[in-house]
Amino acid sequence: MAYDLLKGKKGIIFGALDENSIAWKTAERVHEEGGTFVLTNAPIAMRMGQIKELAEKTGSEIIPADATLAEDLDALVSKSMDILGGKLDFVLHSIGMSVNVRKGRHYTDEKYDFTAKGWDVSALSFHKVMQSLYKADAMNEWGSIVALTYMAAQRVFPDYNDMADNKAYLESVARSFGYFFGKEKKVRVNTISQSPTPTTAGQGVKGFDGFITYADKMSPLGNATAQDCADYTVSLFSDLTRKVTMQNLFHDGGFSNTGVSQEVIEHFS
Ligand SMILES: NC(=O)c1ccc[n+]([C@@H]2O[C@H](COP(=O)([O-])OP(=O)(O)OC[C@H]3O[C@@H](n4cnc5c(N)ncnc54)[C@H](O)[C@@H]3O)[C@@H](O)[C@H]2O)c1
Repeated sequence: MAYDLLKGKKGIIFGALDENSIAWKTAERVHEEGGTFVLTNAPIAMRMGQIKELAEKTGSEIIPADATLAEDLDALVSKSMDILGGKLDFVLHSIGMSVNVRKGRHYTDEKYDFTAKGWDVSALSFHKVMQSLYKADAMNEWGSIVALTYMAAQRVFPDYNDMADNKAYLESVARSFGYFFGKEKKVRVNTISQSPTPTTAGQGVKGFDGFITYADKMSPLGNATAQDCADYTVSLFSDLTRKVTMQNLFHDGGFSNTGVSQEVIEHFS
């Protein structure tokens, strides 16, 4: 059901790779709610071509940008304001990648060039995106910026590897930049800590299939899907959450506050 929650609002959505991507589902949902936006992804992701389908469906333009390059981000922000006809109301950062995970390096055997690259893509890029927006004064008052994170920032999930450290940094950047964006521009900044979700990035984590089932059994409401995450993101982009900022918001069916569930006890009895 659509409620026109984002009617007249404009923004940028990072990270729609294919139809499983959380950003893809969010773009569809934002479109349904009346929002208009520019889609962006790394130039290498463009070559896979699927994002064009989403752009056609949502009447959006695509601007390639590597989120680790300040010059790409500055150009993206300025072109987006030209295309959309003014300042922005919402931005979704839905970007993650660990080279150590991709190359199968154990957490106790990191290659630090890989670590630095993964941190730049997954964590520092959020600061870079916000710095570009801030310097260009590109956000309207009461705008909303959201990034996606995972609970490995607070608790150990051994196979999440160096992404756990990247997410801890990302969540800290949301708080620190959220202070300045709130004070100076009345813009809110939050992270959504999402359940395990079967996407390209999610399935790259070792043991993902067993893990997603475990999380589902541990969550009183079951895992939150990518579609659920899109709904929650829309609420954070809407005017109904104007005073929510600098928060890490768990969107996980109750997993983060559950010690053990009946299903898990029965499994081990
Ligand atoms: N899937 C899960 O289980 C899960 C759980 C919690 C949080 N998250 C987070 O959700 C976000 C979205 O991931 P997803 O699960 O939808 O997977 P996904 O693989 O569909 O999306 C990741 C995106 O990051 C983009 N990207 C990589 N390098 C980039 C760069 N240099 N510049 C710009 N974009 C770049 C990829 O092209 C891709 O579109 C990530 O931050 C991820 O860590 C995922």
